[in-house]
Amino acid sequence: MERTRSRLIQRLAEAGQSHLLQFWDELTPEQQAEMTSDLEAMDFQEINRFFRSAMAVSGSSKQEKMDARMEPVPREVLGSVTRDRDCLKDWEEEGLRCISQSRVAVLLLAGGQGTRLGVSYPKGMYDVGLPSHKTLFQIQAERILRLQQLAEQRHGAKCFIPWYIMTSGRTMALTKEFFSCHSYFGLGEDNVTFFQQGMLPAMDYNGKIILESKAKLAMAPDGNGGLYRALGAQGIVEDMEQRKIGFIHVYCVDNILVKVADPAFVGFCVQRGGDCGAKVVEKTNPTEAVGVVCKVDGCYQVVEYSEISLATAEERSTDGRLMFNAGNVANHFFTLPFLRDIVQTFEPQLQHHVAQKKIPYVDMQGRLIKPDKPNGIKMEKFVFDIFQFSKTFVVYEVLREDEFSPLKNADSQDGKDTPTTTKHALMSLHHRWVLNAGGHFIDENGTRVPAIPRDGSAGSGTADVNQNLKDGTDLPIKCEISPLVSYGGEGLGGLVKGKEFRPTLVIDESGAHELVKNGV
Ligand code: UTP
Repeated sequence: MERTRSRLIQRLAEAGQSHLLQFWDELTPEQQAEMTSDLEAMDFQEINRFFRSAMAVSGSSKQEKMDARMEPVPREVLGSVTRDRDCLKDWEEEGLRCISQSRVAVLLLAGGQGTRLGVSYPKGMYDVGLPSHKTLFQIQAERILRLQQLAEQRHGAKCFIPWYIMTSGRTMALTKEFFSCHSYFGLGEDNVTFFQQGMLPAMDYNGKIILESKAKLAMAPDGNGGLYRALGAQGIVEDMEQRKIGFIHVYCVDNILVKVADPAFVGFCVQRGGDCGAKVVEKTNPTEAVGVVCKVDGCYQVVEYSEISLATAEERSTDGRLMFNAGNVANHFFTLPFLRDIVQTFEPQLQHHVAQKKIPYVDMQGRLIKPDKPNGIKMEKFVFDIFQFSKTFVVYEVLREDEFSPLKNADSQDGKDTPTTTKHALMSLHHRWVLNAGGHFIDENGTRVPAIPRDGSAGSGTADVNQNLKDGTDLPIKCEISPLVSYGGEGLGGLVKGKEFRPTLVIDESGAHELVKNGV
């Protein structure tokens, strides 16, 4: 014990982090034991190295030169659900074929802390208030189940879509327990694999690790790009190899509209021979704070809105669209060989990004301080940092109102990306599915509700929906369709064609039902 402690004291001194033990004598034996084991597990030299290189990159003058180095995504690597309508069936067919051979896996990024939403449990367990009260995890699980069924029906072979779920130290136990309590939503325990991403300490601007209490370091997950290190450390790539996976769809837990293992996206990437692909939505508002996929010095990357000038953000092509309009929605495709190369070779080359944060800390006197301005940094890698290593990058553009509505904020905040907006986005999509399948809605007086205009035009994105919802002028028809019945709007004709429904309409495995009480 004494030997362990003196070795630790020496390691901390060598790394300039001795302050972490300043309250040692005030700790209980249990706290001392816990702190020792936390500190023993840390590589301080590596952490200091991460800090130095992250600070060096963030402090460089790179940003000023970004505009001149950027090029938009060339048309030849781009597929679009609106502009390449004729190819959609083919892509979907290809994707379903790969799924039917059990060659497609999904990888869920669910290690975030969800600080803006402000709940104490993992975001995937959130119920946004749909009539069914399904959580995000359940909605995603049921989409996987339905897709397996569709692929099986098409190709007559039983298949599985393995689901790899990345959690962090803060979300692992609850996530596992939740899945276990819900019997893995029918997917089979063997087909759901949990793994844990790494954590890094928060540091002050001088590279000193911050103490969040006398006995605990301020730790945070190392960003969704922590994925690649975790995949290597926990043998996930080997597991994928054993299962003979060829293609992986990666996505974020908070997008309620996510088309998990989207066969059209997978098929597009496979047919185009992409080793890495990004799904994007059209950015229509120059000042929208969304990262754009583009080329920088000839390599693909995501450039954040804050990295470019307004003039560049406002530039337009001859067709009137924004020049840099490929809005990143953290929804990616990788081939397994590409992912293996990243994990085995390129991961150490990825730099951490610096996020300046207000980090609660204990001061020299041991008082807990909650700063009102940023006092330190968290270091994070991003899932898209690996685009630069792709040799055959492809981009797939989809409609925002069909595929992207993230849950970021609590309802009490500014009204963007909240439980209410995500719930409305899903109900509005399902409303459109019913209309497209030949169903109609009537109001409380029995009058038909006019069909909502839908021309696929770019102006009907989430931002506008959010604005309308704030105004209260565009409340959606209350309608929810179980993913077990329809993955992407298919198979509804027999249930709704030529029929009139009074909201709230719920369609599940037992049929189409009008809920007597509008509880939404
Ligand atoms: P966000 O960056 O929106 O973070 O994550 P968050 O944790 O959901 O929310 P805030 O910022 O704390 O309010 C985008 C996606 O990346 C995952 C999240 O779980 C979410 O699916 N993520 C984020 C990770 O898996 N690990 C991380 O370290 C960070």
